[in-house]
Amino acid sequence: MAEVPTAVRVAASATDLVKVYGSGDTEVRALDGVDIRFPVGGFTAIMGPSGSGKSTLLHCLAGLDRPTSGSVHIGDTEITGLGDAELTRLRRDRIGFIFQAFNLIPTLTAAENIELPLRLAGRRAEAGWLDRLIDTVGLRHRLDHRPSELSGGQQQRTAAARALATRPDIVFGDEPTGNLDSRAGGDLLGLLRSSAREFGQTIVMVTHDPGAAAFADRVVFLADGRIVDEMADPTADRVLERMKHLELGVSAPDAADAAAASDPEVADGGPADPNG
Ligand SMILES: Nc1ncnc2c1ncn2[C@@H]1O[C@H](COP(=O)(O)OP(=O)(O)O)[C@@H](O)[C@H]1O
Ligand SMILES: [Mg+2]
Repeated sequence: MAEVPTAVRVAASATDLVKVYGSGDTEVRALDGVDIRFPVGGFTAIMGPSGSGKSTLLHCLAGLDRPTSGSVHIGDTEITGLGDAELTRLRRDRIGFIFQAFNLIPTLTAAENIELPLRLAGRRAEAGWLDRLIDTVGLRHRLDHRPSELSGGQQQRTAAARALATRPDIVFGDEPTGNLDSRAGGDLLGLLRSSAREFGQTIVMVTHDPGAAAFADRVVFLADGRIVDEMADPTADRVLERMKHLELGVSAPDAADAAAASDPEVADGGPADPNG
């Protein structure tokens, strides 16, 4: 693994992370030896074809799922060795998660959902922070509504505000703009970026949208449970170009091609462009 200058503090990291689902004929290696570090205050986008392990990686990093082997650190804490109660506390105090399926509490209003992590932690929001969040995600006029009375986009924005309410050290988002139009998506991405730049929060976001990835300062590409490429200072055009190479490996027309695409040597040498 490359040496990281000691001045760069690491908010989260995974070392040789492996996650296997099932066994025997039905075994799936969702993660196949992932090594990655997330510097404090960095905004990383994770991209890759469907089934490449993006959600599994996010869930293992956030302590929502246990890896088969390897380790995950949040700050200096090795979380794979923690018991359930300790893990729950660490998640509550330091991690925010924007779920792909929102996971809002149906009986609570939008405002109550947003404030829930603060209540669970027995904390008050910093002055002005909740107001800024609510205005940025444009939910001011929907605060008294329950999730069933909100559109998909409004539910997603509620989920995002909830994840940011406690100002956690690290925020994970699984397609956090997947249900938003480009303006609402841009507002949320701008909020994520400014919470990284202004407040030193660490953001890790799964997305399939090159325009969303361009808000990040780094893009990591997954394929077949492995990191196959990385891009600093992404632009939508460069990300799109790189994705085209990656998608080819997955939509291979026959089994032989699919096997070749999952061969580690091919995967390692495939999409990476040494000049770009
Ligand atoms: N709970 C599970 N049980 C069995 N297989 C799973 C489970 N979750 C994910 N997988 C499999 O692991 C692989 C990676 O899934 P996932 O992390 O959801 O990919 P992505 O988010 O990139 O689409 C896929 O082949 C998926 O079918
Ligand atoms: Mg997923």
